[in-house]
Amino acid sequence: MKIAVSGKGGTGKTTVSACLSQVYLKKGKRVILIDADPDSNLKTTLNIKEEITPLIELKEVIAERTQTIPGERTIFFKMNPEVDDIPEKFFYKNRNLLLGIMGTVRGGGLGCMCPENAFLKAVLRNLILKRDEVVILDMEAGIEHLGRGTTEGIDWLLIISEPTEKSIETTKRIEKLAKDIKIKNIGVIGNKIETEDEKIFLIEKLKGMKILGFIPYFEEFKKSELKGQTPWEAVPEILNYVEDIIKKMEEK
Ligand SMILES: Nc1ncnc2c1ncn2[C@@H]1O[C@H](COP(=O)(O)OP(=O)(O)OP(=O)(O)O)[C@@H](O)[C@H]1O
Ligand SMILES: [Mg+2]
Repeated sequence: MKIAVSGKGGTGKTTVSACLSQVYLKKGKRVILIDADPDSNLKTTLNIKEEITPLIELKEVIAERTQTIPGERTIFFKMNPEVDDIPEKFFYKNRNLLLGIMGTVRGGGLGCMCPENAFLKAVLRNLILKRDEVVILDMEAGIEHLGRGTTEGIDWLLIISEPTEKSIETTKRIEKLAKDIKIKNIGVIGNKIETEDEKIFLIEKLKGMKILGFIPYFEEFKKSELKGQTPWEAVPEILNYVEDIIKKMEEK
């Protein structure tokens, strides 16, 4: 199963990605979790204290694999660098979990034609197309990471939505982008739901989209990060909601 998670800033992408990985790990699956948000916070949500070097900072490795010289700007580089060994060598590992952090691409973001970008995209393509672990991508409010040739490997794009007009606008924008690049399955998760009316609001506003589930608003999360707790340590029942969402995805 290869899952990409997107949605407007602050809607709960990282919380949901972390919980998805936890449910799969509990089922005994091997999981590769990728923090693909430049403004990353997955490590904090998982309460991991170890240093993890973002992939973008592996200057020497990137230069070697793309056949360039570190720091030197060039338009000549290998577009499909060898990256099979990168997760085992450079990701954080804990039992059945591998966690990789992409880091921030300078300048033109992931749209830029540069060796760093070619390297990161190759790593993602490799994870999505070649690995048999569950792969979960915690992305930003866009899907730029999913370049040509990788989208067909994505089983589900999950768009996390809060019951607000702004979040819905972003959800629709992401849905359009996802359809343009022919992502197979697009599902919405309504998060931070406090009332039945909020559910109805999302259902009505997102008519035509598949809603995979709703997750309530949990007051406890306000303090959980301060206490160094993961979301499921703060609120164990969140995993039941996420497990139901996984069941729905697997029905496909
Ligand atoms: N169901 C929920 N109930 C209450 N608070 C929540 C819920 N889900 C997420 N939050 C809180 O909302 C905030 C944003 O969550 P999270 O970091 O998962 O979102 P994000 O979409 O990854 O944000 P960013 O765009 O900054 O990466 C966090 O403080 C988190 O604890
Ligand atoms: Mg996040």
